[in-house]
Amino acid sequence: MKKLFVLFFLILGLGSVVLIQAEKNSSKPTPVTVPGDFAVIAHRGASGYAPEHTLEAYRLAQQMGADYLEIDLQQTKDGVLVAMHDDSVDRTTDGSGLVSSFTLDQLKELDAGSWFNQKYPEKAEEYFSGISVPSLKDVFEEFGTSANYYIETKTPDAYDQMEASLLQLLDEYHLLETPQSNQVIIQSFSQESLLLIHQSHEEIPLIQLIPKEKAAELNAEDLARIRTYADGVGVNYNHLTADFAHSVREAGLDLHPYTVNTVPDMADIVGKGATGAFTDYIDLAEKTN
Ligand code: G3P
Ligand code: CA
Repeated sequence: MKKLFVLFFLILGLGSVVLIQAEKNSSKPTPVTVPGDFAVIAHRGASGYAPEHTLEAYRLAQQMGADYLEIDLQQTKDGVLVAMHDDSVDRTTDGSGLVSSFTLDQLKELDAGSWFNQKYPEKAEEYFSGISVPSLKDVFEEFGTSANYYIETKTPDAYDQMEASLLQLLDEYHLLETPQSNQVIIQSFSQESLLLIHQSHEEIPLIQLIPKEKAAELNAEDLARIRTYADGVGVNYNHLTADFAHSVREAGLDLHPYTVNTVPDMADIVGKGATGAFTDYIDLAEKTN
C-alpha cells in the first residue's frame, strides 16, 4: 500500500513537471522570418530569460544563436568598465548607490541575479541567485573572439576615459583585428563619444542611437552627417515611421530599432526595412538561411 502511495505521488510529480514544461513551451511565440544578414542583437544578453548583463544572460544568448551580445557600459570607482545598464546598482542587484561609488571588488560582492528570480518567478532559476556583475574583461575572458559584441558607451560624459579604456581592452582581446567582420560594433546616444572613437579608429563600425523624441526631427541632411562617422542608427521602434525608416536606408545607414519584444513589432520593423533589432527575446526572429 505504501509503495502504491509513493508511486502515485511520483506520477503526480512527474505529471506536474511535464505540464509546467508544456506550459513554458506553449507560450513560445512563432518567430518572425528575417533575412540571413539581419542582426539579431541580444539586448543586455538574453535578458528576457536571465538576469540582464550577467554572464548567464550572455551565455544563453550565445546558445540561442544571437548575432550580437549587447553590453551597456558603466565604470567603477577604480575605473573598471562593467556591464550594467543603469548608473546605479539599485534595480539589478541587492545593493544601492551609484556604480561609480563602488570599487570592482565591492561591486563583485553584490547579488545580480536574485532580483530577477523575485520579479519573474516563472523564469526563476536557482543558479541565478548570487551571481555577480561582470566586468567587460570578464565577458571578453569568457567569450573572446567566439562572440560578436555590440557595446554601448553609456553616459560617457560622467566617466573618465571610458572610450580609451574600451579601446584598450578591445585591443588586448584581439577584437580589433578584423573590423570588416563587424565583430565589434560600438553604439552611443553620445555623438561626442562616437566621434572620439571614430577619430582614432575609423574602421570600427558605429551606431548612433537616437533618443525617441528626436527620431521625427531628423532630416536627410542630419542623416548624411551621421553617415560621415557611423554605419547606422538605433531608433526606438515605437517612434519608427515608414518614412523615417526609408530615409535612413536611403542615406545608406543600417537601421537597428530597440527594443523589439513582440512578434507583431518584429514583423513591423522587418517590413519597414530594419537591418537588425535589439531584443530581449532572441527566439522572436528566425533566419531564412
Ligand atoms: O542600445 C540600444 C538600446 O539598448 C538603448 O536602450 O536603454 O536599453 O540601453 P537601453
Ligand atoms: Ca543599450
